[in-house]
Amino acid sequence: MPNKETFVEHLTRQGISRRSFIKFCALTASSLALPTGAARVIAETLATTPRPSVIWLSSQECTGCSETVLRSFEPTLESLILSEISLDYHNTLMAPSGAAAEDARRQAIAAGGHVLVVDGSITLTQQGTWSIIAGEATLDIIQESADGAALIIAIGNCAAFGGLPRAHPNPSDAHGVDSIIASGDLVTNAPVINVPGCPPIPEVMTGVIVHFLTFGVPELDALNRPTVFYGQTVHDTCARLPHFEAGNFAQSFDDEGARQGFCLLDLGCKGPVTFNACSSTHWNGATSYPMHSGHGCLGCSEPDFWDRPGGFYTPLF
Ligand code: SF4
Ligand code: F3S
Repeated sequence: MPNKETFVEHLTRQGISRRSFIKFCALTASSLALPTGAARVIAETLATTPRPSVIWLSSQECTGCSETVLRSFEPTLESLILSEISLDYHNTLMAPSGAAAEDARRQAIAAGGHVLVVDGSITLTQQGTWSIIAGEATLDIIQESADGAALIIAIGNCAAFGGLPRAHPNPSDAHGVDSIIASGDLVTNAPVINVPGCPPIPEVMTGVIVHFLTFGVPELDALNRPTVFYGQTVHDTCARLPHFEAGNFAQSFDDEGARQGFCLLDLGCKGPVTFNACSSTHWNGATSYPMHSGHGCLGCSEPDFWDRPGGFYTPLF
């Protein structure tokens, strides 16, 4: 049966303190760029709303998107993410297996109003990796799980845009969720939110779920990405931007310019054309992000980034 426990009831049962909960709400409101007072609205909503049932389906993927959610920072944030939802089905993380696992998924579908998370690209050939799971076509499992869903989240570049499996020559005919809806292979009325990245930033996933629970579907861009996280390029808030504007460009990853924090454009950085929150939200508990660590952006939140002409190290311009 779907879990009707509220977020706060679950936290209490898990021994997570009220202080951690309030801090989580404040951090989430801040990451969503919400006005003063929003943290209180989030806290009140989560305190009284039953945790949504989540069915997380893995298709052609590397499990990096599950890893990123599990490795989110803050001593308690990982527990909070898993407390915020009732994760009723996940190919990797759930304890039951076999018929018991499938029963859990079908019970969540029967209750309706669940959140379907799709992780990985979907093959339409029936020949690719993950085209068949437990004797059923993956596409059929996704269709069955999408019926009655309140929301579909396509997590990671693969589920959003096809990702690595879709790279030329795309031997498995891999597609993202939007693509199979557009082709009519998946029929659903549920809104789709894309959370791309390879992998995506875990706090973005948290923010999307909390926004949906509290305020509904967030504003999306033309690629169905939440504008609050994907409305700016990583270049716009990069720490190396002053050097870009001053014309200071590193010519190798270990030259004096690189050591001084010069811009990595000549080393292939795709930051100016990549919309994501890496340089504003940061990774690993706001410790760092690729350009901060000395490597250019590969453009991992954009469609077809694996096939960008010239590869990862050819300058954009
Ligand atoms: Fe922009 Fe990349 Fe240079 Fe940062 S390193 S300023 S993202 S081009
Ligand atoms: Fe991906 Fe570029 Fe961020 S490679 S992790 S979008 S800096």
